[in-house]
Amino acid sequence: MQAMVYRGPYKIRVEEKNIPKIEHPNDAIVRVTRAAICGSDLHLYHGMMPDTRVGSTFGHEFIGVVHEVGPSVQNLSVGDRVMVPFNIYCGTCYFCAKGLYSNCHNVNPNATAVGGIYGYSHTCGGYDGGQAEYVRVPLADVGPSIIPDGLDDEDALLMTDALATGYFGAQLGDIVEGDTVVVFGAGPVGQFAARSAWLMGAGRVIVIDHLDYRLAKAQEFAYAETINFTEVNDIVLELKKQTDWLGADVVIDAVGAEADGNLLQHITASKLKLQGGSPVALNWAIDGVRKGGTISVMGAYGPLFSAVKFGDAMNKGLTIRTNQAPAKRQWPRLLEHIAAGHLTPRDIITHRIPLEHIAEGYHLFSAKLDGCLKTVITFED
Ligand SMILES: NC(=O)c1ccc[n+]([C@@H]2O[C@H](COP(=O)([O-])OP(=O)(O)OC[C@H]3O[C@@H](n4cnc5c(N)ncnc54)[C@H](O)[C@@H]3O)[C@@H](O)[C@H]2O)c1
Ligand SMILES: [Zn+2]
Ligand SMILES: [Zn+2]
Repeated sequence: MQAMVYRGPYKIRVEEKNIPKIEHPNDAIVRVTRAAICGSDLHLYHGMMPDTRVGSTFGHEFIGVVHEVGPSVQNLSVGDRVMVPFNIYCGTCYFCAKGLYSNCHNVNPNATAVGGIYGYSHTCGGYDGGQAEYVRVPLADVGPSIIPDGLDDEDALLMTDALATGYFGAQLGDIVEGDTVVVFGAGPVGQFAARSAWLMGAGRVIVIDHLDYRLAKAQEFAYAETINFTEVNDIVLELKKQTDWLGADVVIDAVGAEADGNLLQHITASKLKLQGGSPVALNWAIDGVRKGGTISVMGAYGPLFSAVKFGDAMNKGLTIRTNQAPAKRQWPRLLEHIAAGHLTPRDIITHRIPLEHIAEGYHLFSAKLDGCLKTVITFED
């Protein structure tokens, strides 16, 4: 089969690999019909994620058709169209029983902090991902669901990560009616978080980025007010000015460890590797939220130290909530919202690229070229 293969930072190739085999009775093999490139894949592509091994296949946002099932699989049959959440989890451990699917204790021998994620380095379990013609889906009775009739393939695809994550980001903000919600980052996760904030009762939604084409999309898709942080002297001061000098009720960080906007953070993180990432957006969130407010962190941070202003968070009495999204937990509500016409997730897709040209897809998305917001990888039938 053809598969995306990592060859080192900024080097992606398509190579021939063996079709994965059933390794455990509850495995399924899924023939991928659509995959996407996530902002998290960029951290791998940039060589930021520890233990990202040459030869591995990325891709944790994908849907497909069941090609083969192991002998104990009960919920799926060959030929079923399935959406596969980006988390791999057992469904029965202490954490899964609490709905913390992304914190499953049974699927990742390499780390205790995080569970399993498809195609996301050996730190996250070493599973190959879905930017390939076929993928092995472990614990097939637990994660995947059959795509409901009437749900568009591309909408289903976005439920497996970006949409579920954005919605989860708004949920963790504990938004109450009328709240002013600020979202840092106008990528796919930020767009969905901003849109979801309205569904949870926000009174005002402000999206911040430095890419005008993404901010324009946030106005159109997420009905948000926007601020380009490069056009104001001090983004925190600007936020205070716009919120009666109190600060926002809720701030969502949809940027993560590769944030722009502060040269010192950038140099100590990317160039000198003195910290695991540049937490500029997170520090802006701490400064820009009101005392007693809530910060929801969806942006990904690596396991290493980052210079976060924790003292300010402490003295302001902030609630900070964060996790890798347990994608499937959001599906029942998301299906209702999509069916009711409250949102059409596929509206954020800007590029559709065949697997053979996936390196171009990574480049466009990483360099933010050609208006790229979300790229879908397509496959021959
Ligand atoms: N928690 C989860 O489960 C989960 C799931 C998916 C993605 N993520 C993470 O969410 C983040 C966003 O993902 P995405 O797919 O939207 O990625 P993306 O790279 O498309 O979006 C990030 C956006 O942040 C903007 N940005 C950079 N610095 C900024 C700053 N200082 N202030 C405001 N905006 C800034 C960028 O211009 C970009 O538009 C990534 O870190 C990704 O790893 C987490
Ligand atoms: Zn992702
Ligand atoms: Zn578990």
